[in-house]
Amino acid sequence: MTPDRPPPESAVVYEIYPRSFADSDGDGDGDLPGIVERVDYLEELGVDAVWLTPVYESPRVDNGYDVADYRAIDDAYGDFEDWAALRDDLHDRGIRLIMDLAVNHTSDEHEWFRRSRREGGEYADYYRWVDGPPDEPPNNWASLFGGSAWSYDGEREAWYLHLFDERMPDLDWQNSDVRESVYGVMEWWLDRGIDGFRLDVINLLSKAEGYPDGDPARSLTGAEHFVDGPRIHEYVGEMCDRVLADRDAMTVGETFDVTPEAARRYVVEDGLDMVFPFEHVEIDAGEAGPWDVVEWDLADLKAVTERWQTGLDGGWVGQYLSNHDQPRVVSRFGDETYRRESATMLGTYLFTLRGTPFVYQGQELGMTNPTFESLSEYRDPATIERVERAFETGDVEAFEQVREAVNYWSRDNARTPMQWSDDPAAGFTTGEPWIKVNSNYARVNAEREAADPDSVLNYYRRLIEFRHDHPVAVYGAYEPVLEAHPDVFAYRRVPDGEGDARGSPDDRDRFRGALDGDADPLLVLLSFADEAVSVDVPDAVAPGDAERLIGNYDGGSDDLSRSVDLRPYEARVYRLA
Ligand code: GLC
Repeated sequence: MTPDRPPPESAVVYEIYPRSFADSDGDGDGDLPGIVERVDYLEELGVDAVWLTPVYESPRVDNGYDVADYRAIDDAYGDFEDWAALRDDLHDRGIRLIMDLAVNHTSDEHEWFRRSRREGGEYADYYRWVDGPPDEPPNNWASLFGGSAWSYDGEREAWYLHLFDERMPDLDWQNSDVRESVYGVMEWWLDRGIDGFRLDVINLLSKAEGYPDGDPARSLTGAEHFVDGPRIHEYVGEMCDRVLADRDAMTVGETFDVTPEAARRYVVEDGLDMVFPFEHVEIDAGEAGPWDVVEWDLADLKAVTERWQTGLDGGWVGQYLSNHDQPRVVSRFGDETYRRESATMLGTYLFTLRGTPFVYQGQELGMTNPTFESLSEYRDPATIERVERAFETGDVEAFEQVREAVNYWSRDNARTPMQWSDDPAAGFTTGEPWIKVNSNYARVNAEREAADPDSVLNYYRRLIEFRHDHPVAVYGAYEPVLEAHPDVFAYRRVPDGEGDARGSPDDRDRFRGALDGDADPLLVLLSFADEAVSVDVPDAVAPGDAERLIGNYDGGSDDLSRSVDLRPYEARVYRLA
């Protein structure tokens, strides 16, 4: 680890979805020079690393997660020089650059697939081909984008598997040539000075032998045969040993539907730095299909948080509330009426948990979901394909029937352009943006928030500083308190707490060293209510003096009283002596 950079666990990471971040040439699409123009903004925010979602050559069926050439930058984003300029500019300011590696699948335009379907030969077994009659898919597995996970290829006259869009065929990781090719790509990028990878759907690489049918009662048919599949730890372990072990690279695996036990294994045994959990972003998802929204309640969030904060046994996670696949968190777990308050309260939650915080572009402004009026306003293939399929099967006759649910879940909620200013198109582009801009941009934008000391943006800056200044917020053990309170989420972070206070065996000494000299526990109080609530803090929770370190409301005493009145969505963090 280079000494002047924080280790992965204490870094703060900022996710950029380049198509929606900043457009430098007025074509309506974000690009790399656009990001370069905003590096000052990232430096002022105080983040340690940027995760850039895919900018490789791609037909962009899924905005770049369908890669056609892993070693080339897509023209839409610029060229290799533009990419190198961004890398250098970030590095000059001590910010790491983490690239996205999507290797569960490629684009159907990747040379490997073109050759696999046409010539066979060297590439014949790069993908998951199955022979069989053209009217009968090999099994009942569903694609995560809806419909069957199999398509029939008329050229090769065989079925191929695609857990996502049909234009995104799954690579066959059983084939060691595939694995070697991927490791080659990773080394190529590491040799070009990147600082790590976010590994797209990494726990889907291994599939059950013989492709058995999945349980049709599950919301994603087949998942039990491809989530954390039989050889997955072999593949991830091999990747870490072969490519990453001797590199100063930070890794975070996207691990769909992962359990705490499996998460621990990916980190402690296989060697990733951390994985992304999913359980907390499923508390509002029902079982009745992709659009089912269920009421979540604070007890659910508390239970999931506790499970993941205390159940990792040396594992480590990337904490997130927002990303390019999730609805905006204010609209989901917060309250648009109390936008500033709930955005900052949720930010306080994120930054006081064990695990590395990831902030998604616009989250630090308190951006909200837009309202999409018609299907034609959506751009996300997962949204559009699902709706179209529902029309085809007759499950849905008019968009109106599903509009609310689609509006709630669509990944496009996160993909509307970053709101920079109150200029037309929110200062994102001088042209026509590729996707609609949220109509609240005149009120919610970076320029305006930078000038307002009470803005969400300035609170996020303080949270990032707070995290850097208080190792106990990073390393301390998590202890739930006041668990029965219906509206207040409270917990302590304790330097010598029982349980899950240390990282993986390799990290132990570093973790202990980091905590030296930061011996005071923290008490976090978060109100999830839209009205004033009070909470009694017993001696057992805060035995001695306490001092407020950060909070999202001004005024009041910094001391902790036995009965605390919290205003709507108020957040306070105390240092306990
Ligand atoms: C991940 C990405 C998502 C993409 C999918 C397929 O879940 O975050 O955006 O569609 O993988 O690559």
